[in-house]
Amino acid sequence: MSGFPSFEYRDNELYVESVPLSHIAKTFGTPCYVYSKKVITDAYQAFDTAFADNDHLICYSVKANANIAILNLLARLGCGFDIVSGGELQRVLKAGGDPGKIVFSGVGKNTEEMRLALTAKILCFNVESEAELNALNQIAAEMGKIASVSLRVNPDVDAKTHPYISTGLKENKFGIPIDDAERIYTTSQELTHIRFTGLDCHIGSQLTELGPFVQASDRILSLVSRIESKGIEIEHLDLGGGLGIRYHEEETPSIQEYVESLCTNISQLNKRILIEPGRALIGNAGLLLTRVEYLKQTPDKNFAIVDAAMNDLMRPALYDAYHEILPVIKNDINKETYQIVGPICETGDFLGHDRELNSTSGDILAVMSSGAYGMSMSSNYNTRPRVAEVMVDGDDVHLIRERETIDHLIATEKILP
Ligand code: LLP
Repeated sequence: MSGFPSFEYRDNELYVESVPLSHIAKTFGTPCYVYSKKVITDAYQAFDTAFADNDHLICYSVKANANIAILNLLARLGCGFDIVSGGELQRVLKAGGDPGKIVFSGVGKNTEEMRLALTAKILCFNVESEAELNALNQIAAEMGKIASVSLRVNPDVDAKTHPYISTGLKENKFGIPIDDAERIYTTSQELTHIRFTGLDCHIGSQLTELGPFVQASDRILSLVSRIESKGIEIEHLDLGGGLGIRYHEEETPSIQEYVESLCTNISQLNKRILIEPGRALIGNAGLLLTRVEYLKQTPDKNFAIVDAAMNDLMRPALYDAYHEILPVIKNDINKETYQIVGPICETGDFLGHDRELNSTSGDILAVMSSGAYGMSMSSNYNTRPRVAEVMVDGDDVHLIRERETIDHLIATEKILP
């Protein structure tokens, strides 16, 4: 339980902060995402404190979990935001986020999204291709505005993570090849509605070693000196997100160690440092509560069929990701090995394989470390309404998203005349 400081057993019952999870299951039903305000706040403050000696801006990567209560909590703490769509921009603004602290990432920003972001006066566009740079220049010109830009460079570094979430290798679709960046910074002066203010990179997600971050920041460092020697001043360096969390047995660097490793070389430049953490801020702050519907024994396996499924938490099905699964009421006697599976009609619909549990129908289980890329990647597959989300704050529980209904799901559909 060491990875979940605000999730602990008291007399064999699992609590979030001061609230027993069985109370939440009873009040709000299952499946249901539960977040701890304290864990989110502590994680943000750990980043902020670690950067205390540097001019810095922490831009939470909204895609990890876009609930507006979470965005609002972070905005109140002083956090900025890394967005990848016009929709995320609107969420951040609605949640009270400061547009002057927003960076806009992503390989495929469309013209409408660029317009929205220019109107909102965001801090910076992280541009990922020359074609995008030209399009942004044209739109900014039409609007009579100047777009602040960082080029996102691809430093060709192996992040040593799952191939689906590795982004900094030259064969990946992300960023501008590092060897082209210098030319683009220096030859794009005729783009009269672009102002280069920064340099950006993001090499992947769920990194459990510091080496790749250091390698990438070294490459960025030497690129900055080459660009500045041509008379272009870089105001900030955006080093992306990617710090991994402990799901199972991973040994992950602490936030402090991560920030120190980023700053070792970069801080000599005396520039503002931006980072875009998602998972490290929210991943271990959330869990998915689910109820065991049925136990089923076959000659080969024991199945615990639960009411949450791959549409609620896609990570196991998509990346074969491991999430710890804990009983809300602990019973260590007569445990058996179970496949924890959902009701969806796919063999890939599982939340955990080979878990030791004493389980009965009606038991409540907690799928841990699901705060990041859980709700935000959920879908309505099998016409399953998205689940409720609640935030615990001490002994208070707040509903921060109502459970969807079937009416919500079909509201925009139309039958032929
Ligand atoms: N910045 C950029 C440009 C990104 O693309 C991402 C994540 C982040 C920051 C935040 O990365 P983090 O600090 O959360 O590692 N669905 C996958 C993760 C995909 C990450 C995509 N980009 C998962 O469930 O593991």
